Amino acid sequence: MMTEKKHVILTGDRPTGKLHIGHYVGSLKNRVALQNTGKYDTYIMIADQQALTDNARDPEKIRHSLHQVALDYLAVGIDPKKSTILVQSQIPALSELTMHYLNLVTVSRLKRNPTVKTEIKQKKFGESVPAGFFIYPVSQAADITAFKADTVPVGDDQEPMLEQTREIVRTFNRIYQQDILVEPEGVFPPKGEGRIPGLDGNAKMSKSLGNCIYLSDDADTIQKKVMSMYTDPTHIKVSDPGHVEGNTVFTYLDIFDPDKEHVAKLKEQYQAGGLGDVKIKRHLNEVLQAVLEPIRKRREEYAANLDYVDQILTEGSAKANRVANQTLKEVRDAIGINYFD
Ligand code: TRP
Repeated sequence: MMTEKKHVILTGDRPTGKLHIGHYVGSLKNRVALQNTGKYDTYIMIADQQALTDNARDPEKIRHSLHQVALDYLAVGIDPKKSTILVQSQIPALSELTMHYLNLVTVSRLKRNPTVKTEIKQKKFGESVPAGFFIYPVSQAADITAFKADTVPVGDDQEPMLEQTREIVRTFNRIYQQDILVEPEGVFPPKGEGRIPGLDGNAKMSKSLGNCIYLSDDADTIQKKVMSMYTDPTHIKVSDPGHVEGNTVFTYLDIFDPDKEHVAKLKEQYQAGGLGDVKIKRHLNEVLQAVLEPIRKRREEYAANLDYVDQILTEGSAKANRVANQTLKEVRDAIGINYFD
């Protein structure tokens, strides 16, 4: 009997700080669910080298964040027995693959990448865009193809990276007349669920905006943050009719409260007038505490045992090296530069 080849997942995050509940709903939850189907070989990458492309002068931040992100992964249920967690900088084959792929991509094509364009503006690089940052979509193509990943669960903003990867795969396979590399498909969060607003009502939850609830926040911090949340500025007295659209507390309840009927009732009451902000915030606090407490507990257990975390990362990276080196060998063979083998 033929054994069916497993699908392969590769995804990851830049370690530039702790992960927050936006990461959780936008991708982490999805990854854990996919991992637990047992249908995939799953690789989760801590993309420290990509993080360095715009943090080269602050490597300490990246070094520190490496453990933070690893702890967040383990805390949400990424299971090292089921998934391989790897550290990008420990896989030299990725850098060499990037060099080979750079020859297949034009500068003008890279300039058109919408995600990179937006980031260049956001980061205020002006004319001083680090070359490594500019080409990171190519290095991301190396990340994905090194593992022959066909499935890449990511946020919506990563679609251009996948398109770039598919182009590189097609160009490579055409030029070298090989079928070595695999075209990946993205798996995106369900519509409306991929992004949660910040505590202040800003469309994006982000560290730089200071509007996050972190997976590692303690119970008191979560409560304080919830009680300070943006609601409906026109809802002044309890008896005033309130708005639920654009009201961050209700957006969070829609995402996190498993009791949808109850949420519907609260919305009705709020819109009619007579339901106070403090009351719904208390309810949201309970809902969030229930979601985050087990995550925080597990995080604390791993944090008390960083040697074990390092072992997970070392073993994950060792396995990743075996797989990526094999792909690199095939790529070098295809190009014809394995002169002395
Ligand atoms: N660009 C991703 C981010 O911003 C991180 C990343 C690096 C990644 N390599 C990847 C994601 C490969 C998916 C696949 O978080």
